[in-house]
Amino acid sequence: MILGVNIDHVATLREARKGVEPEPLMAATLALLGGADGITVHLREDRRHIRDRDLKLLREMVPGELNLEMAATEEMIRVALSVKPDMVTLVPEKRQELTTEGGLDLVSQKERISGAIMKLRKGGMPASLFINPSVMDVDLAKTTGADMVEIHTGRYANARGKKQKEELFKVIEAVKIAVRGGLGVNAGHGLDYFNVKAITRIEGIRGLYIGHSIVSRAVLVGMERAVREMKELVNRAARQAG
Ligand code: PXP
Repeated sequence: MILGVNIDHVATLREARKGVEPEPLMAATLALLGGADGITVHLREDRRHIRDRDLKLLREMVPGELNLEMAATEEMIRVALSVKPDMVTLVPEKRQELTTEGGLDLVSQKERISGAIMKLRKGGMPASLFINPSVMDVDLAKTTGADMVEIHTGRYANARGKKQKEELFKVIEAVKIAVRGGLGVNAGHGLDYFNVKAITRIEGIRGLYIGHSIVSRAVLVGMERAVREMKELVNRAARQAG
């Protein structure tokens, strides 16, 4: 099972100061050194975190799978065709949302999604669809010409107790039907160091795409070292000055 690490939140931190650090490209390199099989970024219409230059640099430098999450718009298709990531995951996008809130609405958007997939595949890029864990959505995804789906695990991740078991069951069913239908099957959203285990036990999943929990943990496990380095630097500089 591959692990794609979503580094959007590294760029979110950079954008908090509109400066140059932390640099997403460096985060990607360290993620790959840590064992990530690939890097995912979501280029949003409003460029609130990842910017076009990040995507271009990542394309040049990332030796693993580069997965571009994007809305199925003409502008984004143009970007994908020029940058050529290893794969594209089509996601719904709303300006006001904090993160992707649900899977694609394939009932009302099927034509648009199918059109986008056709253009991406012509450009040599496999396309994945981010969908809710429902049998209907898996069936619709099959008819769009998509190569893969990414099953939305957010509801499972946020639920507790009996409700979580029910949500897990929906994910298991959706994976089973998608695998049977010949689709590559990924999963992601809201997965963390606790809830990921049950997902890894599902047979047939090709890859997991995880961002927030990994970036959150990186901030915490890196804090002690970052402070120690600053303290040593301050002490050394003070000694030299005095
Ligand atoms: N998969 C998709 C399609 C997403 O939109 C996101 C969030 O950008 C993720 C996976 C990763 O979710 P999280 O940051 O909650 O791990």
